[in-house]
Amino acid sequence: MTFLELKPLTAEQLPGVVELDQLCFGGHWTLEGYQRELASPMSHFLTLCLPEAYTDLELPSAKRCEKAQFVDFELGDTDEESEVIESKTQPHLPKSAQTLVGLSCFWSILEEAHITLLAVHPAYQRQGLGQLLFWALLGLARERGLERATLEVRVSNQAALSLYQKFGFKEAGRRRRYYQDTGEDALILWRGDLQTPGFAKAQAEWHQQIAPRLAKQGWHMLEVGMNLKVSRKG
Ligand SMILES: CC(C)(COP(=O)(O)OP(=O)(O)OC[C@H]1O[C@@H](n2cnc3c(N)ncnc32)[C@H](O)[C@@H]1OP(=O)(O)O)[C@@H](O)C(=O)NCCC(=O)NCCS
Repeated sequence: MTFLELKPLTAEQLPGVVELDQLCFGGHWTLEGYQRELASPMSHFLTLCLPEAYTDLELPSAKRCEKAQFVDFELGDTDEESEVIESKTQPHLPKSAQTLVGLSCFWSILEEAHITLLAVHPAYQRQGLGQLLFWALLGLARERGLERATLEVRVSNQAALSLYQKFGFKEAGRRRRYYQDTGEDALILWRGDLQTPGFAKAQAEWHQQIAPRLAKQGWHMLEVGMNLKVSRKG
């Protein structure tokens, strides 16, 4: 059995990041670009990945629960916490991509989270993992004390637009011919109130919606003490 976990980006993951970037964006940033991003105190990455060390053989379940700490953005520092998803089977992927299933990032600029990346490996899309990753990213932005979140999205990217709308992002403007490859416009989306009790309530409600969405694909969200675990049964 293998696992997926949510955790900050590390330098070792960069080859997989570039590969995922190529697959999902056709080359948004280069390796050097990602290295710069990783070094920047403004950039905050969350990845969804297969930690090769976490296998049933190496970690009996009780120990695995200790080792695999879980995300709780209300309670702790995400640098030391991660959320684990276990799955019965994995699609055949290139080695470096096998360890990286999802990637997300925001820049903290003053009190704003500028979301620069959200990607899920094509072999894992439409399983609810994108919204899980985005939910976690917004939780991280809130935990960092940011007030608002914004992003740009291609007008034709219905998948991403639909996802962002689920999280209360609203269109605030448009950048004409923003994407050089196609000349397509970018929609500018915003979501405010990250520090309000209303947002905390919304986060809890999204959690409740994400669980059944994941369950449709056989993923199950479990509460482990105060933490969250997601697993897939055979
Ligand atoms: C956008 C992206 C991250 C979504 O990841 P995902 O894991 O497939 O998303 P989820 O399964 O969590 O879906 C969440 C919601 O997004 C929307 N969505 C996702 N894929 C969709 C698709 N192909 N068509 C329509 N809506 C879609 C739906 O509203 C979906 O909810 P539902 O399944 O309950 O209907 C993924 O498609 C991706 O990596 N795309 C390429 C990179 C990209 O365009 N990133 C966004 C840049 S702004």
